[in-house]
Amino acid sequence: MKKIPNIVLAAAAAFLLVLLADLPPSARPQGALSGNVSPKIHADTDGLALTPPMGWYPWNIFGEEPQTEKLIKEIVDALVASGLKEAGYSYVGPDEGICFSRGSDGKLTSNLTRYPSSLRGLGDYVHGKGLKYALYTDAGSKTCSTAMPGTKGYEFEDMRAFADWRADYIKIDWCNSEGQDIVKTYTLLGEAQRAAGRPVVHSLCSWGEGYPWQWAGAIGHMWRTTTDVCAPGQADWARAVRIAFANEKLSAFAGPGRWNDPDMMVVGMPGLSEVQGRSLFSLWCMMASPLIAGNDLRDMTKSTIDILTNLEAIAVDQDPLGAQGHVVWNDGDVSLWAGKPLFDGSRAALVFFQGRSKARLRIAWDEVGFAAADELYVRNLWTHETTGPHAGGVDVTVGGSDVAFLRISKTKDFPIPPILVADTYLISLRAAGSRPEKLTGTVSVANKGSSDLPPWRVDPKSLPPWLSVAVTGSGKSRMFVNTASTVGLKKGSYHALVRADNVEPISGRPMSALYYDVDLEVVRNVRR
Ligand code: GLA
Repeated sequence: MKKIPNIVLAAAAAFLLVLLADLPPSARPQGALSGNVSPKIHADTDGLALTPPMGWYPWNIFGEEPQTEKLIKEIVDALVASGLKEAGYSYVGPDEGICFSRGSDGKLTSNLTRYPSSLRGLGDYVHGKGLKYALYTDAGSKTCSTAMPGTKGYEFEDMRAFADWRADYIKIDWCNSEGQDIVKTYTLLGEAQRAAGRPVVHSLCSWGEGYPWQWAGAIGHMWRTTTDVCAPGQADWARAVRIAFANEKLSAFAGPGRWNDPDMMVVGMPGLSEVQGRSLFSLWCMMASPLIAGNDLRDMTKSTIDILTNLEAIAVDQDPLGAQGHVVWNDGDVSLWAGKPLFDGSRAALVFFQGRSKARLRIAWDEVGFAAADELYVRNLWTHETTGPHAGGVDVTVGGSDVAFLRISKTKDFPIPPILVADTYLISLRAAGSRPEKLTGTVSVANKGSSDLPPWRVDPKSLPPWLSVAVTGSGKSRMFVNTASTVGLKKGSYHALVRADNVEPISGRPMSALYYDVDLEVVRNVRR
């Protein structure tokens, strides 16, 4: 049989999707929208982003200016000091910050005027704070601002450079890509990442062009579904709401390791009220969207911090089942969002009111995935109150531009899934003498979720001969004790990327793999 190219399948499926989008959900043939056409999910191999990535990127608030190493370090420090790190935000770095240029040898070099420690030095700073390093490039000839070179024709060299800088996340834009085949281009970039040997969260950014939800799960972990959520510096409520309603239609394509990305968040930016920020955050959580903050973390009101760090809302986003919630009905001003089963048997539901005064309505249990006659407990994820048991449904009142964001369960318990926080992702060891030495360095990880976790597994066969890793501790805190033995090593620099795997105990689902770097500097040749 003649093979139909992916792009044709993608276009056909997307056309079908557009046709179906206007139908009421009950009229949509479910099979046509269910599942991802990708035969294999890339995250199955690298274990990355099995829940939506959380972090910060500069573009929404800053645009290209004034991104510098100093700014990014200040943001990193603010991310830690404000409590965002403790709430699970971890990927952070510059994007269109004129970070690098291409030398005459074709290789990327850091812009040392803006980033005096080099992009690798900034990565070490980020990792040393227990955060993950995010960088940005473009699949075309230049980035969108045209200030930086794109990867076209240099895919393998550039992904090697990103690995050398120790990026953990790479957003790859689609500007200046005229004439390029989108599936082939991003596939090649994925191959280049694998060849570079450092697993990265691959964030595709074609704004929905090429219908990435149809094929990008085999290549990367998340893909933009729409145009930008705002112009740099100013939030745009109406545009963000439109984007949420476009993104929700793609819910069937999301799942662990493959996420629809409605763009970075605008919470805390100028142009948005507190209520609007809370509503958008809730919608992003309901859609299992990547939670990439886009505001100035150095200058946040208490309410912005409270929104961005609401663990009960984040728990819905970070749920191990990875279901994307979607609209169940929409009468124009009021919409009911459901379709988000959670790992403990509970379900999330959301009422969004776009009108001005107040909406009063009853949510019936059979509209949100339960049996009509069930008696259920309701947790309000913003007031943090539990009520019930309620028979048949619950009455809600929602103010203008506001949401009722609820978690509904047969039990009174509302456990929080794993939210991991590490003290560092970089161990640096230095062996000074020629006598064999054993050097140790520890990575400590705490779970801010409700459950004790089983021990992480580190496959000893994945480690170089000079390194061993023991996992100690119990309950919600674990330590990775790394022991380097220098016996017989030659003078030089050694590096290992350690991968640790675990499962979430309530659902039994695999958790995102945890990776960290170990550097060993051997100053002299060491005796056997
Ligand atoms: C595109 C992307 C944005 C941002 C800018 C940078 O517009 O969609 O998110 O990365 O490029 O130039």
